[in-house]
Amino acid sequence: HLHIFVMAGGSGERFWPMSRTRTPKHLLRLLSEQTMLEMTVLRMEGVAPWERIFVLTNASQVDAIRKELPFLPPENIIAEPAKRDTAPACALATGLARARDPQAICALLPADSMIHNVPVLRQQVRDAARAAATNDALVTFSITPNHPATGFGYLHLGEEIEPGLHQVRRFVEKPDAETAQKYVDSGDYGWNAGMFVWRSEVFLAECDLNAPALANFIRQFPAADVDGYLAGCFAELPKISVDYAIMEKARQVLAVKAKFDWDDVGAWTSLPEHLGADCDGNTARGEVHQVNSHNNVVLANTRVIALCGVNDLIVVETPDALLVCHRDAAQDIKKLQAFLPENV
Ligand code: GDD
Ligand code: MG
Repeated sequence: HLHIFVMAGGSGERFWPMSRTRTPKHLLRLLSEQTMLEMTVLRMEGVAPWERIFVLTNASQVDAIRKELPFLPPENIIAEPAKRDTAPACALATGLARARDPQAICALLPADSMIHNVPVLRQQVRDAARAAATNDALVTFSITPNHPATGFGYLHLGEEIEPGLHQVRRFVEKPDAETAQKYVDSGDYGWNAGMFVWRSEVFLAECDLNAPALANFIRQFPAADVDGYLAGCFAELPKISVDYAIMEKARQVLAVKAKFDWDDVGAWTSLPEHLGADCDGNTARGEVHQVNSHNNVVLANTRVIALCGVNDLIVVETPDALLVCHRDAAQDIKKLQAFLPENV
């Protein structure tokens, strides 16, 4: 049976001041009335029943997420007692699915991507599950790159073993700019969408080779009292992403070439693409007034914002903070974390 796990433990520091520890990116309503997490879960409606759709998150977010997704069984919102990145989260998913069903197929999805073409996504998740059922491989999704992004993993695509399904010759997580440019120019590489599908035994075998602590954690996973089990051992697991710990080293990786649109909504400057811009190139939410101002992204949450004669700015206002940032510096917002007071 297919078990779907949404990974929602990240913080999204580039969306400060709206994202905070308790309201990370996937709990913001940036692109619609729904949060990114809600959209991610609803996209999977019908691919598996709600009983087999889970959200993995940090203890501090569990209550908010249970309220947000009342249609999921509350015990399917699972609290990780420590922040250990995605490799332990993937092991948790695999262990839990395996304890319920030794033949389980796990699909892991990030909570921070935007996909509009839901019917095609659903079909291709089913295709990936079929590929995972019949091959001893970890299955990924490949997105055709349109620029040399350094924030993604790259899949070096090899032979097409059936229509739309490729061997992956090598997985490289977040290459430097020069390498990324080479990859994009070659035409043989795809971005890793951060979505993974595998049989629990196949992932377990890779952990045996490359991450024995995770293999052990999966094997011991109990069928009941998940919280008690996690409280006893989760914090001791290595803090590393699944991309570095497993995917780069795995013996057999396959990639489904995505036919759906995909964007990871990485920074404030991603908003115009989804929300549109007016004839001056401005994207605004809330009560915003602009005169002789162009190419700005402005979000007013509680007050009126007025801009006069300024271009290329990001301005975001919340009750306790105000961000003013040049568009070209949107990636640097995460650096502010080092200077911000504890509770801001
Ligand atoms: N449960 C849980 N626990 N989830 C986590 C944790 C954790 O400790 N850390 C991160 N996540 C969630 C994030 O909320 C996000 O939904 C997903 O896991 C991926 O983590 P990111 O931190 O956003 O990873 P990334 O964007 O740097 O890189 C990954 O995604 C790219 C595509 O967006 C990699 O898989 C790249 O290879 C990929 O290209
Ligand atoms: Mg991400």
